Amino acid sequence: MASAFLIKGLGDRPKLKGTIRVAGAKNAALQAMAFSILFKDTLRLSNVPEIEDISRMTELLEALGLSVRRPRKDSWELNVSKKISAAMPEELTKKFRASVVLTGPLLSRFGRVSLPHPGGCLIGARPIDLFLEAYKKMGAKVTEKSGCYDIAAPKGLHGAEIFMRNQSVTGTQTVMMAAILAKGQTVIKNAAMEPEIPHLAAFLNKCGAKISGAGTPTITIKGGGLLSAKGRAYKTPPDRIETGSFLILGVLAAKDLTITNCQPKDLEVIVETLRLISSSKIITSKNTITVKNKNKAIINPLSIKTHEYPGFPTDLQAPMAVLLSQARGESLVFETIFEGRLGYAEELARMGAKITLWDSHRLMIFGPRTLSGKILTSPDIRAGLALVLAAVIAKGESVIHNAYYIDRGYEAIEKRFLSIGVPIKRIETAEEGS
Ligand code: EPZ
Repeated sequence: MASAFLIKGLGDRPKLKGTIRVAGAKNAALQAMAFSILFKDTLRLSNVPEIEDISRMTELLEALGLSVRRPRKDSWELNVSKKISAAMPEELTKKFRASVVLTGPLLSRFGRVSLPHPGGCLIGARPIDLFLEAYKKMGAKVTEKSGCYDIAAPKGLHGAEIFMRNQSVTGTQTVMMAAILAKGQTVIKNAAMEPEIPHLAAFLNKCGAKISGAGTPTITIKGGGLLSAKGRAYKTPPDRIETGSFLILGVLAAKDLTITNCQPKDLEVIVETLRLISSSKIITSKNTITVKNKNKAIINPLSIKTHEYPGFPTDLQAPMAVLLSQARGESLVFETIFEGRLGYAEELARMGAKITLWDSHRLMIFGPRTLSGKILTSPDIRAGLALVLAAVIAKGESVIHNAYYIDRGYEAIEKRFLSIGVPIKRIETAEEGS
């Protein structure tokens, strides 16, 4: 059985109101679960989002031999209790991209890891060459046979200078973690600067790591021994991509919506862009954003180009395209990071948006266009949420198949959307969408 979302479109009158709470960040919690392998005692986590990828990571860690316990709803306890396997099971590893982050801690602690090519949204090739090159520079031997990698460093890893040709987020996080147990110093140049990275590094430093420069393009890690949490818990930061998605929904369809438990400072580019191009009133405080519309927001067209942090996040490109379908004029969307991340365009066009695909990185959107409800299929996590936003402002009913994709990244989305007035419900379907 698979599930889908049935959404009754509200049309283009702003009707949503109330408050919606942002969950913990998927792309921090997954990495924190991975770095539990670097600890000699129990690592506790809190504010972990209840999403499918967290369940997959739990299954993967347990399959490797870690103990993952959840004594209370908001409290997770992870530790390396018994002999850990170095072989990452194929099926689970292929279910999500973050599985690749485990290779750093496993290799640096146990001297060996083998894995199939990791999974992740079909938004591009998702190579791992930067990871493998880094491990080789740190003294590991990498062999590949029919799509499976065997990475061995029997004498342990040593520090190295690693230049990231692409500012890979998981690449930066993974090498940073591997370097914690390597002998000597590692310098990562052209490192990713997403806020989750300094957030993770700050906690690791409290537990004995020696990381400096996280959040800047150059991160230096002095290798040492296993870390110790000493009862400390890692509190997952709010999900900035969820926050941005809810803000875009607010501009499109809210009378008066407050987004709580968020950190507006981590998504300045979205807040400033929406203040620039829309007539919505957007008020921010340290941990909330309120968006108000007296009437349907007037949205001016804008060309956006995705960019590594602090630029426009690629994970908000699809939701932003839905907003631009309502702008008065033509907008260019340029996805610079992934080569397969415009998969939603066809579905959006079927709903009535006027879109011209230039190539695998660029499309033009001509608005405003009224959208009509359709039977749709989510191509990936973020495009799935974008189709939900489109269905909310459409005229008529939509069914969005592959709800699993949306559940991979958004906790109980139908419950939270229902509470602010979105007529959404989950339905069981015989099979995945087309
Ligand atoms: C992380 O993916 C996120 N996933 C993605 O979120 C996010 O879109 C992406 O960063 C960019 O912000 C997790 O954190 C689990 P990259 P990641 O490595 O690390 C190239 C979501 O919906 N590259 O930063 O896989 C790559 O092809 C997901 O939550 C190499 O060339 O992305 C891309 O062009 C989707 N070789 C660029 O770097 C490598 O070895 C950036 O990718 C690795 C990456």
